[in-house]
Amino acid sequence: MFTSYQLMFRPVPITIEMISRYLLCVVAFFGAACATSVNECNENVLVPEEVTIDGCEADLAICPVTVNSMFNMTMRFKAPHYLESMTPQLIGKTALGEFELTGQAYNNNVCTGILNTICPVVEEEVIQYRYSVKMVVLPLLPITLKFSILDEALNETAICFKVDVFPRLE
Ligand SMILES: *[C@@H]1O[C@H](CO)[C@@H](O)[C@H](O)[C@H]1NC(C)=O
Ligand SMILES: *[C@@H]1O[C@H](CO)[C@@H](O)[C@H](O)[C@H]1NC(C)=O
Repeated sequence: MFTSYQLMFRPVPITIEMISRYLLCVVAFFGAACATSVNECNENVLVPEEVTIDGCEADLAICPVTVNSMFNMTMRFKAPHYLESMTPQLIGKTALGEFELTGQAYNNNVCTGILNTICPVVEEEVIQYRYSVKMVVLPLLPITLKFSILDEALNETAICFKVDVFPRLE
C-alpha cells in the first residue's frame, strides 16, 4: 500500500523544456510578452524567434482557443532573405484530417500585417507580424496548427512553425 502511494505521487521530473518555459513567463512578469513555445516544421525552414498567441500562456503545452472567435498571434523573425511578396498559410491537422483556415482578405498579404516596417524587407531585417483568423473549427478536437509564410517570388516557404491548440466553446 505504502509503495503504491509513493509511486502515485512521485514528482514529475523537471525537464529543460519546463525550465525554459518557466523563464519565458518570468520575463513576461517583468513586462515582455509571454512567448508561446512552438515547434519547427522541418529543419530547413526558419522558425520565428518569438511567437505570442493571444490568450495562451507560455507554460501551457496546448493553447486554448475559442471556436468561432478571432485567433491572433504576433511573431518576430529576421527575414531570411529579401522579401517583397509573402502569403500566410494556416493548416489545421486533426485526427479527422487536414483543412486550411482562411482569414479576411487583408490577411492574405503578409505585408499588410507587418507592424514595425514596410515591404520589401531585406535580409536580416527584424520583422514583427500580426496574423488573425477566425477559428471556424470543431470544438473539443485537438488541432496541430501549421503556420507558414510563403515567399511568392521564389515560390518557397520562408517561415514555418507548428503549435498545438485545443478548441473550446465559449
Ligand atoms: C483577437 O483580436 C480581436 C481584435 O483585436 C479581439 O477582438 C479578440 O478578442 C482577440 N482574441 C483573443 C483570443 O484575445
Ligand atoms: C510552387 O511550388 C509548389 C511546390 O512547392 C508547386 O506545386 C507549384 O506548382 C509551384 N508554383 C509555381 C507558380 O511555380
